[in-house]
Amino acid sequence: MSDKAILEINGQKHEFPLIKGSEDEVAIDIKNLRSATNGVITIDPGYKNTGACESAITFLDGEKGILRYRGYSIEELAEKADFLEVAYLLIFGELPTQEQLDQFHSDIKKHSVVDDDIKKIVDAFPRSAHPMGVLSSLTSALTAFNPSSVNVDSEEEMYNAIVRILAKFPVLVAWTMHKKLGLPLDYGDKNLGYVENILKMLFKQPNEEYVQNPILINALDKLLILHADHEQNCSTSTVRIVGSSHAGLFASLSAGISALWGPLHGGANQAVLEMLEAIKADGGDTKKYMGKAKDKDDPFRLMGFGHRVYKNFDPRAKIIKKAADEVLGDLGIEDPILDIAKGLEKEALEDMYFVDRKLYPNVDFYSGIIYRAMGIPTDMFTVMFALGRLPGWIAQWREMRLRKEPIGRPRQVYVGETLRSFKERKDR
Ligand code: ACO
Repeated sequence: MSDKAILEINGQKHEFPLIKGSEDEVAIDIKNLRSATNGVITIDPGYKNTGACESAITFLDGEKGILRYRGYSIEELAEKADFLEVAYLLIFGELPTQEQLDQFHSDIKKHSVVDDDIKKIVDAFPRSAHPMGVLSSLTSALTAFNPSSVNVDSEEEMYNAIVRILAKFPVLVAWTMHKKLGLPLDYGDKNLGYVENILKMLFKQPNEEYVQNPILINALDKLLILHADHEQNCSTSTVRIVGSSHAGLFASLSAGISALWGPLHGGANQAVLEMLEAIKADGGDTKKYMGKAKDKDDPFRLMGFGHRVYKNFDPRAKIIKKAADEVLGDLGIEDPILDIAKGLEKEALEDMYFVDRKLYPNVDFYSGIIYRAMGIPTDMFTVMFALGRLPGWIAQWREMRLRKEPIGRPRQVYVGETLRSFKERKDR
């Protein structure tokens, strides 16, 4: 294969280098396109064909259904690693030794107290506020309580910012849920593992001891690992682009949380459950909703189906489907919503509309089902996604800053009015 691409514009040929990734992905390097062609740019709404960066964190192949963090397959990581280990791997590039992991966890625990004044901010939100709005605001507020900007030339400052947010974020997540449920805002328990502590902070009732359930620990560990990174998705690209202006880590993360909120991205897990509940309320007729999903005049889409990059299957969905069956079986849960989910899944997998368009259940189809079984309120599902995605956002932000990437600033093709004279108000 040649190592350059040739572009011909108005009879003039321009050469651009091809660059190859470590998995043989090929990209045309158009960094000099504008200067070489006297102002020509590319246009690619939704960035379906545009690589925004070179990255050594996550590899995914949507056609083959491959997802790897730092070279390790998601299947192996979900089976053998725990979430904190995966967080370390994503952020620092290698699996930690026991000593490195212990140090990492101990440094996180040192920062696990959130300034008590943040409780006043939590208090000011209405109980009805969407938890993603609350979480995004609280994460942004952390900036005010930790104002020092991160000097990326200082390993120590980078590390401190990272362990701080890994420590405080689960507390903010728990407070977001407790605010909604009218429960006290507590701090975690330093004696527990990272995931056990999250479970206790979420589910401990003020008047009883919290008893850990190994099935839930295992399921949450897996869910968080599966969501931990997914290369340049909408929220990650947001974190990188906000961080590219040298905004701080917490501010960049807060923007990422807002991006994740939307129903076409992280909000899909909430949308899945709401859709299942609506189908149940409407008599449980899945065929009717399959018909709506296929009708081009109907805006309804089957939530939890389809993916921008996975066009054969979502490898995370395979792992999580198994975990969902285990959790539901072990907890002995019977739920009509789950029967509707199973019915829809079966029908969609056999329907030519979905088969032809390669629309398969994605990770969010099953994650919502597990979160519901665990007792997490539906509008908290996307918050749980954010908790899992945190290490990925941090890793991508750190990589972007260490590589000293330029500020993100796309161009456009202007299609508005050309120059015209101002009209006085009376003449309009
Ligand atoms: N239900 C019904 N039809 C669908 C669905 C769906 N869920 N998803 C895609 N299609 C159809 C489209 O109408 C289109 O049909 P056409 O070719 O006849 O016009 C075709 O499949 C291709 O769809 P696009 O929207 O072009 O695919 P794209 O890659 O842009 O979108 C997306 C991917 C946004 C995930 C889409 O499949 C969707 O909206 N799914 C439902 C929401 C969802 O589950 N999002 C979670 C994604 S996973 C995550 O963020 C972690």
